[in-house]
Amino acid sequence: MGTRAVILASLLVACLAQACDGNVLFSSLSRTLVVEASPTAGQVLKSGEDKIKVTWSFNGTHSGKDTDYKTVKVKLCYAPVSQKDRGWRKTVDNLKKDKTCPHLIVARPYSSSAPNNSFEWTVTKDIPKATYFIRVYAINASANEVGYGQTTNKNKTTNLFEVDAITGRHTSLDIASVCFSAFSVLSLAGFFIGEKRRAKKSSPPHM
Ligand SMILES: *[C@@H]1O[C@H](CO)[C@@H](O)[C@H](O)[C@H]1NC(C)=O
Ligand SMILES: *[C@@H]1O[C@H](CO)[C@@H](O)[C@H](O)[C@H]1NC(C)=O
Ligand SMILES: *[C@@H]1O[C@H](CO)[C@@H](O)[C@H](O)[C@H]1NC(C)=O
Ligand SMILES: *[C@@H]1O[C@H](CO)[C@@H](O)[C@H](O)[C@H]1NC(C)=O
Repeated sequence: MGTRAVILASLLVACLAQACDGNVLFSSLSRTLVVEASPTAGQVLKSGEDKIKVTWSFNGTHSGKDTDYKTVKVKLCYAPVSQKDRGWRKTVDNLKKDKTCPHLIVARPYSSSAPNNSFEWTVTKDIPKATYFIRVYAINASANEVGYGQTTNKNKTTNLFEVDAITGRHTSLDIASVCFSAFSVLSLAGFFIGEKRRAKKSSPPHM
């Protein structure tokens, strides 16, 4: 059996294990949770230092029910302005493929009574500089999203906040990348000049 067949077979098994048919579309979810977070609109948080406090609760006036909610997943999500031209952060309606909210802040058992439905998180250092909002998913017993809430409007344009890297780190990175690009341009130029010379030398003499 070839390697390719083995890979295909294991992909199939992996797919069956996570229930291929359990694909949930974001557009099918109701906004049943009221979510609040401590950052104010436009606030800039420093990764590795600043904290975010998130609070969530079931919207009692909503017609839906929370009886099948087993856990919640609190996530940090990219605002559209930070997704532009970045395919790897793309929003896809199928939540298995969606890249809007790649940063899990915490997963907690769901409780309909309010007191424990909050979490304080220090922005970790791996969070890239970007504009964000918070979204909380309600998850049922078969690990599918069944409801959500978020700190921004439907169009993801209001109440956004920013995360910035700790100063010092990105300046040295920037310098390194500028040097590196200059070096690659120069070596590429060198390569072409070398090639031309070689081509001239090896071309047959004219009669
Ligand atoms: C709660 O749900 C109702 C009905 O969907 C909606 O009109 C209201 O704005 C929601 N409240 C909050 C705080 O999200
Ligand atoms: C809240 O959380 C604490 C600590 O995790 C736990 O001891 C307590 O029972 C929880 N209370 C409720 C109402 O869930
Ligand atoms: C969880 O939600 C998914 C998607 O709505 C549904 O297909 C599945 O039957 C639900 N599981 C349970 C245990 O309610
Ligand atoms: C949301 O975006 C759509 C499409 O871009 C637009 O038509 C609509 O007016 C926007 N709604 C709000 C509340 O900004």
